Amino acid sequence: METYHLIVYGCQMNVYDGEAVATSLQSVGLRETEKPEDADLIIVYTCTVRASAAERAVGRINALGALTRDAPSKYLAIGGCLPQAEADNLLDACPDVDLVFGTGQLGRVSSFVDLLETGGGPYVLVDETEWEPSVALAARTSPVRANVSIMRGCNNYCSYCIVPYVRGQERSRPTRDIIDEVDELIQSGYKDVTLIGQNVNSYRDGGVSFAELLRKIDALCDGAFLRFTTNHPKDMGENVVGTMADGRNVARHLHLPLQAGSDRILAEMNRGYTASDYVRLVDNIRKAVPGICLTTDVMVGFPTESEREFEKTLTLVKKIGFDGAYTFVYSPREGTAAAERPDDVPPEEKRRRITELIKAQREISLERNEGFVGREVVTLAEKLSRRADDETAGRISENKTVNFPGTYAPGEMLPVKITEASSWTLRGKVIGTTGV
Ligand code: SAH
Ligand code: SF4
Ligand code: F3S
Repeated sequence: METYHLIVYGCQMNVYDGEAVATSLQSVGLRETEKPEDADLIIVYTCTVRASAAERAVGRINALGALTRDAPSKYLAIGGCLPQAEADNLLDACPDVDLVFGTGQLGRVSSFVDLLETGGGPYVLVDETEWEPSVALAARTSPVRANVSIMRGCNNYCSYCIVPYVRGQERSRPTRDIIDEVDELIQSGYKDVTLIGQNVNSYRDGGVSFAELLRKIDALCDGAFLRFTTNHPKDMGENVVGTMADGRNVARHLHLPLQAGSDRILAEMNRGYTASDYVRLVDNIRKAVPGICLTTDVMVGFPTESEREFEKTLTLVKKIGFDGAYTFVYSPREGTAAAERPDDVPPEEKRRRITELIKAQREISLERNEGFVGREVVTLAEKLSRRADDETAGRISENKTVNFPGTYAPGEMLPVKITEASSWTLRGKVIGTTGV
């Protein structure tokens, strides 16, 4: 085996784990190919947070099966959260697969090559082997932005959520390892670092809380944006808000999942806060960090959600005025508490609710983005824009994408004047430099 092709679905944790998979394969001499048809080993690293995510992964795997089915020296593997939830079903659903591995196998990836080449299989590796990254990942997906895992797993058991079952119990990474990884990233020119975990606020390593970790990391990140995600409203304490306000490099953006605006639904979801707790937290954050941009996750159609309860979500979303929201239709996941109950909001009603929510949020996002027009903002050049060859796509502290004319090296911090806004992105032009 000489080459691999890796396809990653899912959240930032999966992107990070995908980088770990790539690092391991490269460490045993495999090269990445641009196209799956050119690879000896194809790996699909999956998400199963909603049924649609699982279905998309299975569809992709079966389409890729055509490439490996009649080629004895080509192999197909499925990794990540979906195998952790349902390895046996997967072998039935995906007959061309040679290897199925779960979320606890990252330490073993380099041995997959030998295992597959000995023949036999399909192999199923889903026992939970602990894995903590101790060195910086070599195979990063971007030269300027990087995720750094600070904890794995989740103990919150929100009633709809499969993550605690596929990622295991919370465990925090040693502070020293995190510091070393961030240090190395900054030394090698990274300009945007995100500390990631399913619930970063519950980080703890001995005496070091999340707020203390954030303070230590902030001190290393001069000249770069420092971000962290995901936060849980029930765990985001005043000390974290204070550190955000005092930090030199902490970005002016926070992702704070709301999920719902009705206290009854929030309790049914086992979220551990009320709508007014959430509003109070947002008020404190906005007072501590003026101009901060907020994004969120919102779900519609949780079992028993009434029209009035949905209206509460809609009203709260409008009242808070998020810069952006990821919106989801509830999807029952086997093994979770909510999946025991009837999925009783009719599909057409779910669709109506999500459409209304998306429409409202699009208007709010546009309004929030229009507030940037005319402002000069420091923008990190990231890559060529998708829209045109002679255009650069960048990112600002508030985590918004800005497209601007000219070709700039990834990693440059540029003064950009914002000239236009849409619901999704900003447009601007570089001012006061000699850029092309
Ligand atoms: N740990 C993070 C991310 C969890 S998954 C957090 O707590 O925010 C990302 C989002 O997917 C969740 O915030 C939730 O809105 C959504 N989600 C999770 N399970 C879901 C389900 N069963 N159906 C629909 N959306 C779901
Ligand atoms: Fe899932 Fe809740 Fe944990 Fe987030 S906090 S991963 S929604 S159980
Ligand atoms: Fe999906 Fe697993 Fe992340 S289920 S949301 S990839 S932790």
